[in-house]
Amino acid sequence: MTHYLLVANWKMNGLAGDIDEAIRIADGCTHPNHQVVICPPAPLLSRMSTILDHENVHLGGQDCHSSKSGAHTGDHSAQMLADAGANYVILGHSERRAFHHETSELINLKAQAAWQAGLTVIICVGESESERLEGRETEIVGDQLSANIPVPESGKGRLVVAYEPVWAIGTGRVAEKAEIANMHQFIFQFCQRHLASEDSIPILYGGSVNATNAVDIFSVPHVSGALVGGASLKAKTFNPIFHSLPN
Ligand code: PGA
Repeated sequence: MTHYLLVANWKMNGLAGDIDEAIRIADGCTHPNHQVVICPPAPLLSRMSTILDHENVHLGGQDCHSSKSGAHTGDHSAQMLADAGANYVILGHSERRAFHHETSELINLKAQAAWQAGLTVIICVGESESERLEGRETEIVGDQLSANIPVPESGKGRLVVAYEPVWAIGTGRVAEKAEIANMHQFIFQFCQRHLASEDSIPILYGGSVNATNAVDIFSVPHVSGALVGGASLKAKTFNPIFHSLPN
């Protein structure tokens, strides 16, 4: 039976009162083989991890620093995320690449730190609209993947790739099934070429995923789940996506 992973990226949304929503997600998303990861803003992690006691739900951060500690005002380390109850961290989200000028090299340093801290890393990759119009989408995604694959010993079995075309994030525009299929096939083959065959890496799709388009997206080969932004903030929009996962 296939294992699927559904990741809720709350971005910069959520206060203590919204932990109830996470509980509704955890209560509503149970399946013996499917896993949910909720990534709230860092200040909520610790409290959420104390309150949420569900085997089917893990927690994740949305970023971490590449150092363990030090004079980095406003940042937090991977170890701090783990200490606050996280098992995962999203790295290289296109919003961080764009607004914080993160390069693939920096993202790799963060990934190394995250693996050292025992976290599973969800690396986001994806092309902009102009890059796709120029026909450069696999070149861009290939470059982004190259920074983190092959995976070092410390990260064995703890890498997830999320393909998120930048033009599909928060826009309501989902990539065509054929576009998703081509890119997931490309990522799958890239991983096969650079990793030992026993390591199969989950490849998530992200970008305007909702209950209406989820069944179609999950029917695409090599799609192992989704990274969900806007629709992940409420159980009533997130849980139906979970229930669209194939059995
Ligand atoms: P979206 O965000 O579902 O709101 O498009 C996805 C993401 O940025 O991870």
